[in-house]
Order: sequence, then C-alpha cells, then structure tokens
Amino acid sequence: MVDHPPAIFVVFGATGDLFNRKLAPAFFKMYQSGWLSDAFAVVGIARKPKANEEFREQVKHAVQTHSRGISATKLESFLPHLFYHQTHFDEDEGFETLRELILFLDKEFHTQQNLVFYLATLPHQFHSISSKLKKHGLDKTNGFCRVIIEKPFGKDLQSAALLNRQLSDVFSEEQIFRIDHYLGKELVQNLLITRFANDIFQHPWNNKFVDSVQIMVAEQTGIQNRGTYYEKAGVLNDMVQNHILQLVALTAMDAPKSLDAKDIVTEKIKVLKQLHSSNRKGNNVVVLGQYRQGTVDDKPVVGYREEKDVDPYSNVPTFAALRLEINNKTWKGVPFYIRTGKRMPKNSARIWLDFKSKTKPLFQNLSQKIHSNHLEFRIQPDEGIALFFNVKVPGRKLEIKPYHLDFCHECEFALNTPEAYERLLSDCLHNDKTLFTSWEETRYAWKVLEPIKHICEHTVTECPTYLAGTWGPKEADELIEKDGRTWHAPKDYTGGKNGAY
Ligand code: BG6
Repeated sequence: MVDHPPAIFVVFGATGDLFNRKLAPAFFKMYQSGWLSDAFAVVGIARKPKANEEFREQVKHAVQTHSRGISATKLESFLPHLFYHQTHFDEDEGFETLRELILFLDKEFHTQQNLVFYLATLPHQFHSISSKLKKHGLDKTNGFCRVIIEKPFGKDLQSAALLNRQLSDVFSEEQIFRIDHYLGKELVQNLLITRFANDIFQHPWNNKFVDSVQIMVAEQTGIQNRGTYYEKAGVLNDMVQNHILQLVALTAMDAPKSLDAKDIVTEKIKVLKQLHSSNRKGNNVVVLGQYRQGTVDDKPVVGYREEKDVDPYSNVPTFAALRLEINNKTWKGVPFYIRTGKRMPKNSARIWLDFKSKTKPLFQNLSQKIHSNHLEFRIQPDEGIALFFNVKVPGRKLEIKPYHLDFCHECEFALNTPEAYERLLSDCLHNDKTLFTSWEETRYAWKVLEPIKHICEHTVTECPTYLAGTWGPKEADELIEKDGRTWHAPKDYTGGKNGAY
C-alpha cells in the first residue's frame, strides 16, 4: 500500500473554468480512490467574496457535473476538507490572513506543514502571487513546499524567461512543477511504452519506414468563458507551444537512457532543438483560422468575434495547421503535420504514423489499390491504439481488404484510469516530475514557436475564418494536399472492435 503524503493545496484562481472543470473533480477523485490521506485540505483563493459553504456547493456542483462514478457518501466526507479564502493577488493583508489560515488548517488536519501552491490564474499574475508568498514567509515551511504552474508559461520566449527568473527568486527548480496536462493522459503515457516496450514498433520508427506523421487535437467547444485569456493566447500559445509540441517530442524522441524524468527530458529537448517549420518555397507551412458562426453537434454556435470578452474585430486565431520537420538523422525528410482548433466537428485527439508504401511487384496485376499501413493513437476519446494492415478476402479470386487490429483502452482498463489532473496532482505530492515539463523544455518549445509566429506576422494580415463545425479553412487542406497527402479523418470506435475500415 502506497503512503500518500499529507498536504494543504492552495489554489489561486478557484472560481475559474480550470478549477471547476478539472481541478475540483481531480481532488475529489483522488480522495475517493484513496490517493489522498485524510490529512489534507484544499484552500480555494479568488477575488470574489464567498463563504466556505458556498465554495463547497460550487465544488459539489463541479464534481457532479464533470465526474463519473461518484460515491455520494465520499463526496459528503470530502467537502469539509475545503476552504475558501478571498484576496486580491497583490494585497498584503490577504496573504497575511492566508498564512494564519494555513497554520490553523495544518493543526486541524495534521498536514505536517506540507504545502502545494497551484497557480491556476492568468500568467501575468504569477509574479505578483509568488512575490507575496515570499514576502509573507509562505515559501518556507518545515515540510515540503511546491508550486504548480499552469500553462501558458509566458507569452513568448522573452516573457517566459523573465517569468522564470521571477519564480526562481522565490522557488528553486526542484520546487517548481510546470504542468502540461496532456502528459498526464493515459494514452500519451502509453506512447513511450508502445514505442519502447515493443520491438516491432521500435524498429520501423524512423524515416526509413515512416512516410509522415499527423497530430491532431480537435475540440468541439469554443473558447467558453475564457475570452480575456484567449485574446492574449490564441491557438499557438494555448495549444501548440505546449500540448502539441510535447506530443511531437514524445512521438519523435529516441529511447531515453532510463525512465527517469531527467533522461526523458534530455531526449525530448534533443527533438525540440531540431524541430522547425518546414521551408517549402512558395507553399504555406502555417495556416491559421478563426471560427465564425455555424453549427456544432446540430446546435447553432456564435463566431469567435461574438464571444464574451472578445474584440469584435479580433484577429486572434482559434485554429492552426502546421507542417514541421525534424532536422536529425532519424526523421530528416518526414513531415509532421499538425492540426488543432476549436469548434471542430468532433472532439478528437489523435496521432497517426503513416508508413511508406513500397511498390509490391507480387500484386502489380491486381486492379484494386493496396492501402499503406498506419498506426493510430487515439488519445481521446475512444482511447486506444490501432494498427491498419491488409488481409485476404476468402475465395479463389485474389482480393485484398484493409483491416485494423484494435487495442481499446476502456474495454480493458476503464475503471482504473485516472484523469490526467488526478495523476499529476498525485505525482506532485510524491515529488515525481516525470510528467511535468522542465524550464529547458519550455524554453526550447518557445524557440520552436518564435519563427512560426514570425511567419504568421509576416504572411497573415487577416486571419482566414472557417465555419464553426468544419475542419478549418480550406488553406489547411491545401497545406497537406500540395504534398500529395490528405488529413486523416478521425473515425468513431465502438468497443474496440477489430475489423475492416
Ligand atoms: C487547455 C487549453 O490547456 O487544454 C484549452 O487551455 C483546451 O483551450 C484544453 O480546451 C484541452 O484539454 P482537454 O484535456 O479537454 O483535451
């Protein structure tokens, strides 16, 4: 049985979308599955005045809305561990009273002065919060003191470096946990296992066998109530700089020396250092787009410019398609096509590896097309992995049919799968940084993004729009079609059936 360290979690930004959708359900699920000892408390901090009882109701509602398999008794025993504290993030008095609250809760819940601060706020507030924590002695305890930082970490390389210096004035690198919740997703973790625990996949994982790679993160939702944040971030800072580049790095990295965080990070950094948007004369390598009014899932939705807190003339992109290349021995010549956007027809995060198709003299007289092989990672939904290959149709006449072998994650492990944030919060408690990003990785990811942004600034004067509920602007199709390829269409899977496609 694993011992779970006692701790007080202090969450800044406790009335926001992230807290309600992801963090509150994660704390509860950790509690329900025994990943939190009874010695814990969660303090939610925000600017609005709110009583503890009101905060507990908010959390209860968030858990009921966003979690499955809730035990009502467990939910009732979880709520008394929650507390609300109102303060502005630059207000001394609020931090002084926070210190008193923490001392009180430490005695009450026997948390051995272990503290985890979670900054689920807008990035420009990180500095103010961390310096107040220092000023009021909240960065020093007799237990451990860690800080979790939400992305985006800065808005460009320069601001990220400044932010890092400011945080380093208060916390050491060992204390800082930079979260990228895609790393906590089971199928993302499975990437490394599938690659490195299976010789049959390890062998062809390079430019000799792989024709191209596609990475897609499509969302049906719009920006929800995050207009203020999104107007500053846009899709490149919100999704590409972090989640997408992490997926590229994990797909392309060489085998690490060990599964230790530092060895994995070393290999990911090597990929990021060699990653760049491809240089194709006269052809687009970056396509941006912004959704306009349309229909998603049969429901009418407004366009980006009509969303709350968005400038009606905004040029901020909500969609990006990119063609990237990795300039190393393993991947030279293999394009990595990226597609991510909001208000797409489906929620779907996938990675496809398309294998090269050599001419097959044996079948040259066959009139039908022989499909090339590909491997598909379904990060979400319908989590799983499928291998697509060709089989013979029964009978005397030679007929070949494409087929897929499917691993369905949910069929095998459904009940035991923690959500990304449960896993990551728990890893932080256990001081395990394997699934967190280091400053060096963050720095190199910004370095990849800078020239891409530069291309956009110089080529995109007015962001093209796309109808909500479609796969982005037509220019995104042209980006890949010019290479003689097409985007994969994500299929729906039911219960991991193997079969024809
Ligand atoms: C967040 C982005 O990091 O990831 C959001 O800020 C996005 O814009 C979200 O919606 C997607 O996460 P998930 O887990 O729902 O795929």
